[in-house]
Amino acid sequence: MLLTGAAAMLAQTARSAETGSGAMITLSPRPLDLEMPLDGFVDEITPTEHFFVRCHTYTPVVKEAEWKLQIDGLVEHPISFTLAELKKLPHVELVSVLECAGNGRSFYEPRLPGAQWRFGSVGNARWTGVRVKDVLAKAGVKAGATELLMDGADVPIGKMPDFQRNLTLEKALHPDTMLAWAMNGKPLTAEHGFPLRVIAPGWASDSWVKWLQRITLTDKEFDGFWMKTAYRHPNHSVAAGSAVDPKDMIPVTDLNVKSVIARPGEWAKPGTVLVQGVAWSNTNPVTKVELSLDAGKTWQETKLSGTGAKYGFHRWTYSWKAPEGQHTLISRATNSAGQVQPLQQEWNPNGYLWNVAQPRNIVIGMSAPVAETAVAAPEEPMPEGYKAACLTCHDGHMVAQQKKLTRAQWDREVTKMTGWGAEVKPEHRNAILDYLLKLSSR
Ligand code: HEC
Repeated sequence: MLLTGAAAMLAQTARSAETGSGAMITLSPRPLDLEMPLDGFVDEITPTEHFFVRCHTYTPVVKEAEWKLQIDGLVEHPISFTLAELKKLPHVELVSVLECAGNGRSFYEPRLPGAQWRFGSVGNARWTGVRVKDVLAKAGVKAGATELLMDGADVPIGKMPDFQRNLTLEKALHPDTMLAWAMNGKPLTAEHGFPLRVIAPGWASDSWVKWLQRITLTDKEFDGFWMKTAYRHPNHSVAAGSAVDPKDMIPVTDLNVKSVIARPGEWAKPGTVLVQGVAWSNTNPVTKVELSLDAGKTWQETKLSGTGAKYGFHRWTYSWKAPEGQHTLISRATNSAGQVQPLQQEWNPNGYLWNVAQPRNIVIGMSAPVAETAVAAPEEPMPEGYKAACLTCHDGHMVAQQKKLTRAQWDREVTKMTGWGAEVKPEHRNAILDYLLKLSSR
């Protein structure tokens, strides 16, 4: 497992070198999925232009003048707010990490379909808005309500199910749970959910619904695709690659405690090297980050710095007298509940909440090692019917990022896409599956 992580790590480093410092890694241009490269982990507050973007649909263009937030369902009086009306409620500001549940999915073995995030579908921002509980108080929550069903202005593509998510009433009433209109002091951009998004600190971003326009109070969990099937993980340990009984799958809520080494990269000169990165957690803040300079044999405590916001990135540094040679560094964070990053990642069937203490290989020497040049794989000719069936709603990025999937996994993926509206002629299906298998096995 550790070796797998190390190998994946090198692939990531090579990739971010390719895209250059500060540039985002494009997983998909449409719907838009952008990842922050490793270099971004030097910042305590992530600049909005370096903040990862995850969209299930095309980015909706919402006009403020036509927008309202509607609150209905199990409430005393259904009510709606314009943005100006919302801004009359008491303002709150909070620094919080936002992390995609699937961050790190690309490191799981066996591999899993989905957005192939490495490290950077996470960022830390300052959010401004109002408390959900203040908004709900205006509508009056009826006894028996347990869930908020949240819906944004995004429009499903083809026949895909509308992205709607529950938030438990308990989490919604927490004084830190917000509806935000600003990120890092500026109105939300369209990609980040203009005009309003949910802020559920400590929870994965599937609960942070963007372009929010409706909250319906209900007394049961919503049974739509994005609650019932997606964003669930097992409530017990499972063997890697095994199937899990759907009744044992529960919604993803809390994040895992985690840390990332931002610098140095894969090479540094001998002498004093500043090793630095960030750590973050769920509702239990980070208390400690340790660093191993010998592949996990011994651990040194690092220095925590920065503002130490409860839900934010915690910066850490370690001054290392680095001797010449090849080294494996590992950072490992602990939170106030005593949760520690594991040295072995537990597997789950949707590839969520990856948080292993991940090894990073680094060469200390007088000159940089010569980078291996990537050899471009020869182009695979597209089979008949593929373009019409698969390259309409999105381009080839969605397929190209998937690696080492089995034919059975591709078969399920094609079934999912035909359910969403992909038109695969029966006589083309086998050749399309052969092609997808070939592409993803390179
Ligand atoms: C009707 C529109 C549509 C068509 C046609 C379509 N897709 Fe997709 N596909 C989507 C959308 C939307 C997403 C993004 C889903 C998300 O972000 O959760 C997606 C995502 C994917 C992914 C990423 C993994 C996942 O499940 O989210 C893969 C792989 C993929 N599509 C393959 C294909 C293949 C292969 C075909 C042709 C058989 C195809 N798609 C045709 C809409 C479509």
